[in-house]
Amino acid sequence: MGGKVLSVASECVPLIKTGGLADVVGALPAALAREGWEMRVLLPAYRPLRRLIQDDPAAWTEVWYEDGLWGGVGRVLAGQVAGLSVLLLDAAHLYDREGGPYAGPSGDWPDNAQRFAALSWVGARIARDGLADWKPDLLHAHDWQAGLAPAYLAYHGAGGDGAGGQGAGGAKSVITVHNIAFQGQAAPHLLGDLRLPGHAFTPEGVEYFGGISSLKAGLVTADRITTVSPGYARELMRPEFGRGLEGVIAARAEVVSGILNGVDTAIWSPGAEAETPYTAADPSGKAAARAALCAAFGLEVPGPLAVLVSRLTDQKGIDLLPGVLPEFIEAGGGLAVLGSGYPELEGALLDLAARHPGRVAVRIGYDEALSHLLFQGGDAVLVPSRFEPCGLTQLYGLRYGTVPVVAAVGGLGDTVINASPAALTAGAATGITFWPTDALAFAQALRRLVSLHAEPEIWRRIQANAMAHPVGWETSAAEYAALYQGLIDR
Ligand code: ADP
Ligand code: GLC
Repeated sequence: MGGKVLSVASECVPLIKTGGLADVVGALPAALAREGWEMRVLLPAYRPLRRLIQDDPAAWTEVWYEDGLWGGVGRVLAGQVAGLSVLLLDAAHLYDREGGPYAGPSGDWPDNAQRFAALSWVGARIARDGLADWKPDLLHAHDWQAGLAPAYLAYHGAGGDGAGGQGAGGAKSVITVHNIAFQGQAAPHLLGDLRLPGHAFTPEGVEYFGGISSLKAGLVTADRITTVSPGYARELMRPEFGRGLEGVIAARAEVVSGILNGVDTAIWSPGAEAETPYTAADPSGKAAARAALCAAFGLEVPGPLAVLVSRLTDQKGIDLLPGVLPEFIEAGGGLAVLGSGYPELEGALLDLAARHPGRVAVRIGYDEALSHLLFQGGDAVLVPSRFEPCGLTQLYGLRYGTVPVVAAVGGLGDTVINASPAALTAGAATGITFWPTDALAFAQALRRLVSLHAEPEIWRRIQANAMAHPVGWETSAAEYAALYQGLIDR
C-alpha cells in the first residue's frame, strides 16, 4: 500500500504563501507520509527561492533539464526544506522577478499563462518519465496554475503501456480545486504556444467562452477531481458558486469528491504558544492572551472581542463590516483586524477604527506571528465569506477556543456547528453560523454572539466543544490516501 506522488503547485509553506493553498500544499506531504505515501512538491523557483539555491548550491541536485522551456532554460533542483522534499523549477526568464508569485508592481504578470504552463509541463514530464531515482505513480495538481499538468498527460501521453492518453501503468492524475474563482484564462491564439493540440480546443476540452482555461483543462482531463470540503464539492455544481464551470464539474460528478483541509496542529496549538499558553483543561491563559492582544492593539472591550485575519477581498465579505459593526460596538463588542488586500476595503476598515477608537483596531499587512496572538486572545473569529472552499481561520478559531462566527457556505458550514437551541442542548455547538452572507444575517449572528458571550457557563461550554473538535489532518490524509490507492490499483 502507498506509493509516490508528485504534487504540483504555485505556493507551499514555508517557502511561498499568499493564502491557504500554501498551508495545505505544505502540510500534505507529512500528513500523507503517515499513510505510507511519499510526496514531493514541484514549485517555481521564484526569486526568494532561487536565492535559497544560490546560498547553498551543495544542498541542491539538478534532476531535470530542458533548454527550450518557453524561451529559456529550465532546470529542476531537488532538495529538502524543513522536512519537505522540494523540486524547484529554476527558469530565470519566467520566475526570477521582483514581486509576488502572480503579480509585480504594475499588476498580474502578463505571461502568467506561459509561466504556469511551464510548471505544469515539467510536472507532467516528471510524472510520465520519472526522474533518475524517483518515478511518481501519480500527479496531484493544485488549482489553475497546475491545471495543464493533467492535460499534458492526457494529450501528450502519461507513460505506461498505452499509446498516448493514460495507458495502464501510466501516471494517474488528481486535480484539487482550492478556489474556482481563479480559472487561468488565456487567449485562444495561445493554444499552440501552450503546447495544446488543435483537437483539444472544443467545449469538451480546454475551450472556455472562446478562450482557453487552464483550470478547465485540468477538470476535463484529470482522473479525479477533489475540492477542499464536501460542502464546496456540492456548491461547485451550482451556478451560484461554479463560476461558469458548474456544468463541467457536474458532468464529472462521479469522480468529484470533497476532502476537508486540516491544520498543522503542532504549529497551531494554544498549549505550545511561547506567551500565555493555555489548554482546554486549563484555559486561564486565554484571559492573559486577551489582555496582551488588547494592549498590543490599544483596545478596551467590555463584551466579546472579535478578531479577523484575512485577505481583504470581495470573497471574504469584509464590505459588510461597516454596516454591522456600530450596533455590535454599541452592545459592548470590539474588533481587532489583521489583513491586507483591496485598497478600498483597507480604507473602510481604517475608517471604522478611526470612528471607534479603543473598540476597533486594524493592522494592514501580513504577519504570521501576530496572527497567532489574534487567534489566542480573541473571544470570537469572524469569517463572513460569500463563498469559502474550506477556510482555515475558523479551524484555528476552533482549536484556540476562539468561537467562529461564520457564513454557512462551503467548508465553513462543514466545520462549525451552530449554537442552535438543539445543538446547545445536545452539547454539540462549536460556533455561530449564519446564511445568507448579507448584513441582516451577519448582524443577527453578532447579536447572538453578544448574548451567548454574556452567559459564562454556556460560553465556556461552546469554547470547550470548539477546542475538542478535531482539526488535524488525520481523517483527511486517510481520505487522500484511499483516493490515491484506488487510482493506482485500477
Ligand atoms: P484564503 O486561502 O482564501 O485566503 P484560508 O482561510 O484558507 O483563506 O487561508 C488563509 C491563510 O492565510 C490562513 O493561514 C490565515 O491565517 C493566513 N492569513 C491571511 N491573512 C493574513 C495576514 N494578514 N497575516 C497573517 N496571516 C494571514
Ligand atoms: C483557497 C480558499 C480557502 C481554502 C484554501 C486552501 O484559498 O479560498 O477557502 O481554505 O484555498 O484549500
